Amino acid sequence: MKVSNSTALVTGANRGIGLVLVKELLNRGASKVYATYRSESNRAALDELGDRVIPVHLDLSDKTTIAKLSQSVSSLNILINNAGIFTGTNLLEDTEEQLRNDIETNLFGTLAVTKALLPALKKESSAAIVNVSSIAGLAAMPSFGGYSASKAALHSLTQSIRGKLKADGISVHGVYPGPVATRMTEGFEMDTAPPSDVARTILDGTENGVEEIFPDPLSEQVGPVYLSSPKGLEQNFAGF
Ligand SMILES: NC(=O)c1ccc[n+]([C@@H]2O[C@H](COP(=O)([O-])OP(=O)(O)OC[C@H]3O[C@@H](n4cnc5c(N)ncnc54)[C@H](OP(=O)(O)O)[C@@H]3O)[C@@H](O)[C@H]2O)c1
Repeated sequence: MKVSNSTALVTGANRGIGLVLVKELLNRGASKVYATYRSESNRAALDELGDRVIPVHLDLSDKTTIAKLSQSVSSLNILINNAGIFTGTNLLEDTEEQLRNDIETNLFGTLAVTKALLPALKKESSAAIVNVSSIAGLAAMPSFGGYSASKAALHSLTQSIRGKLKADGISVHGVYPGPVATRMTEGFEMDTAPPSDVARTILDGTENGVEEIFPDPLSEQVGPVYLSSPKGLEQNFAGF
């Protein structure tokens, strides 16, 4: 899978990791990048990026916008499911509604977008789906139980569609970042990786066919622990 001359779509592209992914796709010569935004007031960041970028309205919780997406995108090489939320839900103390919120967005929203764009991906001889999960999707961080459950479900979804889409020649990549310096981690007292480094590593991994992408210094340490000892990682994260 090469980014040069490809058509890509990035969800949650108006800020954070999504915005730098769009810029990095342009740097690598993508011919067209569909970049989704949820609210009109956040579209300006995308309008400045030139005519290879096509801003598209998308709200993962609104099926109408997802259906429109499939009408406006006829063929696609790279789908990057980046949009997501972090609510900090504590499973034993918070409401079921808060957990549903995490799962509606991070799992069902991502799945609906993927299904809507599958016909466009199948039209191309070379195509990839990149799902942005989290290290918290590999083993639970108890203080962020809702987020962990939603990202673990996304990890499982990634494995399911990888198996199903192999025969269609569509590669499926899971991305498992640690803390990255975006609005999502504002107020966190921990080292965060620059989103531009994370975006470069995500696209390097996609171009090189890496199925599990660990795009920052913390996830580079977590990845091998998960791959060799999932139980060890659970024990490691138990205090979070
Ligand atoms: N930052 C981290 O430390 C970190 C670590 C691990 C994984 N991740 C994952 O990386 C991805 C990007 O996160 P980020 O750090 O760049 O966060 P961010 O700065 O908070 O950006 C999140 C993006 O997702 C969009 N979004 C949220 N809910 C949406 C919905 N219902 N419909 C459409 N778009 C929606 C947001 O749109 P609005 O601007 O309209 O809200 C925004 O564009 C997420 O999936 C996140 O879980 C981040």
